[in-house]
Amino acid sequence: MSTLITNIAELMTQDAEHRVLKDAAVVIEGERISWIGPSSAAPAADESVDAGGRALLPGWVDSHTHLIFAGDRTAEFEARMAGESYSAGGIAVTTGATRETGDFDLTRLALGRVAEAVSQGTTYLETKTGYGLDVENEARSARIASTVADEVTYLGAHLVPAGADADDYTDLVCGPMLAAVRPYVSWADVFCEQGAFNEGQSRRVLQACKDAGLGLRVHGNQLGEGPGVQLAVEFGAASVDHVNYLSAADVDALAGSWSGWQGAGSGPAAEGRGTVATCLPACDLSTRQPLAPGRELLDAGVPVALASNCNPGTSYTSSMAFCVTTAVLQMRLSVHEAVRAATYGGALALHREVGNDVDGERAVGSVAVGHRADLHLLNAPSATHLAYRPGIPLTHAVWRAGVRAR
Ligand code: NIG
Repeated sequence: MSTLITNIAELMTQDAEHRVLKDAAVVIEGERISWIGPSSAAPAADESVDAGGRALLPGWVDSHTHLIFAGDRTAEFEARMAGESYSAGGIAVTTGATRETGDFDLTRLALGRVAEAVSQGTTYLETKTGYGLDVENEARSARIASTVADEVTYLGAHLVPAGADADDYTDLVCGPMLAAVRPYVSWADVFCEQGAFNEGQSRRVLQACKDAGLGLRVHGNQLGEGPGVQLAVEFGAASVDHVNYLSAADVDALAGSWSGWQGAGSGPAAEGRGTVATCLPACDLSTRQPLAPGRELLDAGVPVALASNCNPGTSYTSSMAFCVTTAVLQMRLSVHEAVRAATYGGALALHREVGNDVDGERAVGSVAVGHRADLHLLNAPSATHLAYRPGIPLTHAVWRAGVRAR
C-alpha cells in the first residue's frame, strides 16, 4: 500500500542537510518513506492525500515522559501556584496511588496518555518507570511501559521510599530491582538531585545499569547546580534532562562530549557520540524554575532535545507543540531549531537519528527516504505558525509508521 501526500507548502525535513522544501510531495510505502521531491514530479501511488498547502514536519519525538502512573496531584499544583516550591517528595504521592492500581487500569491510563500525545503529533515516545519504587511495582511498571511506548527507561532511582535507608535502597535498585525490570527496558535513569539521589548513589546506579547493558540517561541540575551533568558526561549517557542550573564547566563538558562526533550520516552512531541536553520547558513553567538555557547550549555547540516530561507532578502535558512554542517565545530558539530539537533532537537522545548506521532502519525524527513514515501535517502553511499562533491546536493529520493515526 502506498500513499502520496501532495501539495505540501513547506516540508521541514530535519534531515542531515536541514532541508526545507517548498511545493513538495512525499510517498509512504508500507511503514517507510519511499520518495520525497517536488509536487510536480510526484509518482503515482495507491492513494493520494492533498495537503492543501499545509506544512509537513516529522512527527514529534518525545524522549522524556513518565506515563505509568495513577492518581492526581492537583492540590500540589495549586499549592505551588500559591507560592510553595517543588520538591522531589511529591513523587511518593503518585507512588502510593500507582501501587494501589491494577495492571488493567494502569495500562488503560497509560494508553490514554499515549493516544493524547499521538493526536497532537507525537509519533515516537519514551516512557519511564519510577512510580513503583519496589521490586514488584517497578517490574510491573516496566512491563506495562513496554506495551505502550517505543522506548522504556528504568527509573527505580527516582525517590528513596519513605522509611527506607538511601544506601540500602540503592542496593535494591542496583540488584534485584534491576534484574526484575531488565527484560522490559533498554535505558536506565537516575534522579541525581538534592532530596533524591546523591552523587555516590547516582554513580552506583549508573555503573550497575551500564554493566547490565542498558543505555543511560540522567535527571540532572533541575533544582540547583549539582553533579548530574558531569556524571552523565562521564558515563557517556545519551542525555541529561532538565539542565536548568548549569555552570560554565557543565556547558563545556556537554559541548566537549561531542568533540569527536562526525555528525549525522558519518558512521556508527556510537563513535564520538556525546550527551544531549534535554530541555523540558513545560516542566520549568509548572515548577516556576528558570527555563533551561537552550539558546546558550546551542550556541556552545551542545545538541538540544525538547521533551514534554509528561507526568502528574511537574508537567502534566503531552503537548510537544507547547514546548516548541515556549522554546521559541521564551528560550530564543528559532522555529527551525525548536522543531529540530523536538524531532531530530529527541531521536538523537534515543539513538534513533538520521545517519545512525547501527540501526538505520529504525531512524525517526526526520523526513528522509527509508525512515519510518512518522509525519505531522499542520493546519498551517508553515511551521512558524507553531509560535506565531500560540495555543492553537494546529495538528491536522498524523501518520505513525505509515499508518494514519489522526
Ligand atoms: O522529571 N524530576 C523528577 N521526576 C519528574 C517529576 C516527578 C514527580 O514529581 O512526580 C520530572 O520532573
